[in-house]
Amino acid sequence: MQDLKDKETEINFRNVLKTPIRWFGIVYPYFFTVFVLFGLTFIHRLDIIHTNETPAALKDTTAVVEDLTPVKGEVSAGIDLATIMKPGEKQIQKGKELYVANCSVCHGEKGNGDGPGGVALQPKPRNYHSKDGWKNGNSFSQIFKTLQEGIPKTGMTSYDFLSVEDRLNIIHYLKTLAHEIPALTDAELKDMDQTYSLSAGRKVPSQIPVSMAVVKLDEESKPESDSLKKIIEIIHNNSSVPGYMLFNKVTGNKVKAISTLMKSQSWKAGTNEFLNFVSVNRQSGFNADVLLLSKEDLSILYNYLTTTIKLN
Ligand code: HEC
Repeated sequence: MQDLKDKETEINFRNVLKTPIRWFGIVYPYFFTVFVLFGLTFIHRLDIIHTNETPAALKDTTAVVEDLTPVKGEVSAGIDLATIMKPGEKQIQKGKELYVANCSVCHGEKGNGDGPGGVALQPKPRNYHSKDGWKNGNSFSQIFKTLQEGIPKTGMTSYDFLSVEDRLNIIHYLKTLAHEIPALTDAELKDMDQTYSLSAGRKVPSQIPVSMAVVKLDEESKPESDSLKKIIEIIHNNSSVPGYMLFNKVTGNKVKAISTLMKSQSWKAGTNEFLNFVSVNRQSGFNADVLLLSKEDLSILYNYLTTTIKLN
């Protein structure tokens, strides 16, 4: 009984605060639990914490770097913005000539989208007089974009081979042809000037992928030799060999093909390298049939070139 009396049925907090040891005894389990939980969370997240806190000391050099994409060089003189805003008769006339030469075959002389070249096309060439369904849009700058980039997967290809000035002139003419095309605004012209650097002119150097450049260097560094003649003689003597017949089939100009191959080593690494080589070298003397050869034929041709006529 005495024992029971000593035990408190409820905690008397006033007493607890007076005796720090008891106070500690009560809060200790809570602190303990919180510490353990923090600890467990920390361990559980160690790898994440690690990646968050350690900065990369060096750039990752093992990542695959894509080669450069070919870019066509472009040089254009600056164009007076006032002339773009208010073209003279000269510009419009020039635009007309260019339109007739480049566009009317599909878009029709009056721009109704009814030119003979567009009959079989799907989608049909645009009728400039209809307001619906334009992909880029019918404003001056949107048409310029169309001429710059083309409309992918349609008969409308890029006309970036025409100078910027020529393309502008075509649009000037289009506006006289189709009054539906809205007038160029100052803000639009300012935007175009920024995007295409019209008034400042443009100089973009050509760029080709490193892999292509290596092939070209390789090609240029080996002089042609007399053995070309010998090889051509050998070729004439084995005209019934299957390898020769394939060679005959896939070359437009045999001498050129042989001399292209002689100037390079890179294609000798295997049939794939060979295919790669002849497709990159547009003027290789080979024609497009080479890309259509079956695997067997390709290796017959490859063996013919490397072993029978021993190109080196
Ligand atoms: C080989 C035929 C062909 C020739 C040549 C051609 N185009 Fe097109 N063009 C098309 C076709 C097809 C479309 C429709 C594309 C579509 O609707 O997706 C089109 C669409 C367009 C459009 C509308 C783009 C839009 O926003 O929907 C414009 C503008 C245009 N052409 C301008 C020209 C100009 C200017 C020329 C000459 C420099 C030209 N085209 C030459 C076939 C041609």
